[in-house]
Amino acid sequence: MSDPLAELFAPDRATLPLWLAPMAGVTDWPFRLLAQAYGADLTVSEMVASQAMIRRTPQSLKIAAPNARNAVATDLVAVQIAGADPAIMAEAARMNCDLGATLIDINMGCPVRKIAKSHAGAALMRDERLAGQIMAAVVAAVPVPVTVKIRLGWDDSQRNGLAIARIAEASGIRAVTVHGRTRAQLYAGQADWQAIGAIKAGVTIPVIGNGDVTTPEAARQMRDLAGVDGIMIGRGALGKPWIFREVAHYLRTGEQLPGPEPEERARVILDHFAQMIAFHGPVLGNQLARKHLAWHTRGMAGGGRFREQVNHAPDAESTGRLLREFLGV
Ligand SMILES: Cc1cc2nc3c(=O)[nH]c(=O)nc-3n(C[C@H](O)[C@H](O)[C@H](O)COP(=O)(O)O)c2cc1C
Repeated sequence: MSDPLAELFAPDRATLPLWLAPMAGVTDWPFRLLAQAYGADLTVSEMVASQAMIRRTPQSLKIAAPNARNAVATDLVAVQIAGADPAIMAEAARMNCDLGATLIDINMGCPVRKIAKSHAGAALMRDERLAGQIMAAVVAAVPVPVTVKIRLGWDDSQRNGLAIARIAEASGIRAVTVHGRTRAQLYAGQADWQAIGAIKAGVTIPVIGNGDVTTPEAARQMRDLAGVDGIMIGRGALGKPWIFREVAHYLRTGEQLPGPEPEERARVILDHFAQMIAFHGPVLGNQLARKHLAWHTRGMAGGGRFREQVNHAPDAESTGRLLREFLGV
């Protein structure tokens, strides 16, 4: 069985691995493949609720299913699971592996109240014993590497990210991603890269830094401040999948790449839209494409009017027509 992490963290590897962050409602296969085409070394799925997975809901089965990653051959099939019951998490992980997942990531960072109420996501960080049981159960259940994504802690009075990372290490977790905020911060303020560095310094497994990397310079700053083994980018990739190419180039050479030419940008948008329709079908695809089209056209002349029209386009065909008109192709 291939081990995606062995290669990513090989000691002789010249570049820092770049990961696309899991984002619910955003990181479906079309977007992940786009990020991979621009150099993301690993892309993590939207989180799958373990309870939904074991009920085999069509939506959760779609994430790891082989026919879901049609466009580009990839053996990096990272699925993030969320939940608070060790046995159910283990079963959900196993099911994903049976479908083709080659890496399982455990969600311990989601701040959403609905998730936290069931003690999943970031709430797991408040219960170190349960967090440890879940990690050990998932590691024991699957033949693939298991990673975990955490925050700095629940709030400023409970910054136990290092303790959780050490439990992860002891449980056989292969890498930890740290989003440099507490749960209480949600997405406000600035991610604390120094605090990520303190966690990195306290464990021997690779630590991936996450939070507010939206430019190549920010990536370098995080790398230098936190000494991380990899960088995960979320919002900075929205409508800007080439950020991975730009960051990789900058970290390697110290030089800024120019942004894509309008032709490349137009091709990316058209291809992405076509992939979304093919993957989700015309009805759901058209709906889900709206937010990506909004991100893609941010800052483009006439973008505001285009977005307004697209939000009212009744079907994929009309959206496609508006898009071609807007892009002049
Ligand atoms: C729309 C959206 C959805 C998200 N969904 C998830 C998720 O499913 N699982 C998870 O671990 N984090 C999720 N996150 C958090 C991101 O993975 C990431 O930790 C956070 O956005 C900070 O990184 P950034 O500043 O690079 O965006 C989500 C973030 C956003 C903006």
